[in-house]
Amino acid sequence: MKIFGICCGRKNGNTDLMMVEALKGVKSIDPDAEVGFVNLQDAEIKSCMGCETCMKKHIAGDYEFRCVHGVNQDHFHFIEMQLRAADGIIVSAPAYNLLPPGILIRFLNKMHASGNYRLITQSVEACKISACFSIGGTDWTDYTPNVLRMIAMELSGTYDGVVDSVHFDFLNAFQTVMLSADVMERMHMLGENVAKAVIYKKETGKNADYAGTEGICSYCHSNLLRVDPDGSVYCPQCNVKGTVEVRDGKLFVHFSEEALKESRWAPYGQNLHMENIAKGHEKAARGIETIQKNYSENYKDQLSEYRISFPELKKTAEEKDSHE
Ligand SMILES: Cc1cc2nc3c(=O)[nH]c(=O)nc-3n(C[C@H](O)[C@H](O)[C@H](O)COP(=O)(O)O)c2cc1C
Repeated sequence: MKIFGICCGRKNGNTDLMMVEALKGVKSIDPDAEVGFVNLQDAEIKSCMGCETCMKKHIAGDYEFRCVHGVNQDHFHFIEMQLRAADGIIVSAPAYNLLPPGILIRFLNKMHASGNYRLITQSVEACKISACFSIGGTDWTDYTPNVLRMIAMELSGTYDGVVDSVHFDFLNAFQTVMLSADVMERMHMLGENVAKAVIYKKETGKNADYAGTEGICSYCHSNLLRVDPDGSVYCPQCNVKGTVEVRDGKLFVHFSEEALKESRWAPYGQNLHMENIAKGHEKAARGIETIQKNYSENYKDQLSEYRISFPELKKTAEEKDSHE
C-alpha cells in the first residue's frame, strides 16, 4: 500500500514529527507499505486566481486541463500525482489564527485544478482512505479540526473515506510534542487505523468505520453549530438542520438520517451545488448586456481610479538569504 502525508507546520516541527509517528504506525501494520510526506512550507503553490478556467474545461469534459499556471510552474501537480498514487492520505495542520495555515488552504483551493481527481474519488466505493490530525499552541483552535476534517474529506473524495481524526491542544514550542508520549501513541494508532482501513477496503470493498473524535454531526463529525435568525440550528459543515433539546442545562442536537442524506457533501448536496453553479452562470449569460453596460458606465474607470497598486519589491541581499 501507499500512504501519503501532507504537513504544513514548521519544518521538523511538532506536526512533522507526529506525521513520522503516524507513518511508523502504518509500517507496523504493513512493513512493505510505501510511506512518505511533504511539508507544504517546502513547496511552491501558486494561489488560485479564481479564473474558473479549470472548472469551465471540466464542465466541457476536458479533464486533461489542469491550471492556467501550468503544471510545471508550481508543485501542485506533483502533489496531485502523489494523491492519485496513494491508497491512504494523512493530512495535518497546526492551528494558525484558529484555522489551518493559509498554505494548506491555498493548496486546497488548487484541488479544483486536479483534473478528474474529484470525479473519480467522489463515491463511497471509489473514495480513498484518509485521516487527519491537528494541534494548537493553546486551546484557540475551534475551527482547526473541523476545517481539517473537511480537507481530509476533499482528498478522500467523500466523508466515508475519513477513518480517523484527532486534535491536541497546548503543544506550542518547537518539537515539544516529544514530551507527550500519549500524543505520539495516538499518532501511531492513527497510522495503524489508516493502514487497517486500506487493507479492509481492498479485501471487502467497504470503508472502515470512523474511529476518530466524535462531534455532534454524525456525518462530518463537526462540533460546530450555526444558529439562524429564526432559531433553526444547523451543522454548518453539512448545512443540515438539526432538532435541539435541553436536558439538565445541556444542549443535545439531533440530525436525522433523512436530513443527513441532504448534507452538502452527500450526492444530493453535490448535485444541488453543481445546479446552483450552472444557474449562476446562466443568469450571467442572460444578463451579459446589462453587466457590460453597467460595468462601463459605473465601474470600469472607478476600478482603475480606486485601486491602489503595490510597489515593486526590492529585496535586500540579507532578506534574500533569510527567505530563500
Ligand atoms: C501564525 C501563527 C498563528 C498561530 N495561531 C494559533 C492559534 O490561533 N491557536 C493556537 O492554539 N495556536 C496557534 N499557533 C501556535 C501553533 O499552532 C503551535 O506553535 C504549533 O505547535 C505549531 O506546530 P508545528 O511545530 O508543527 O509548526 C500559531 C502559530 C503561528 C506561527
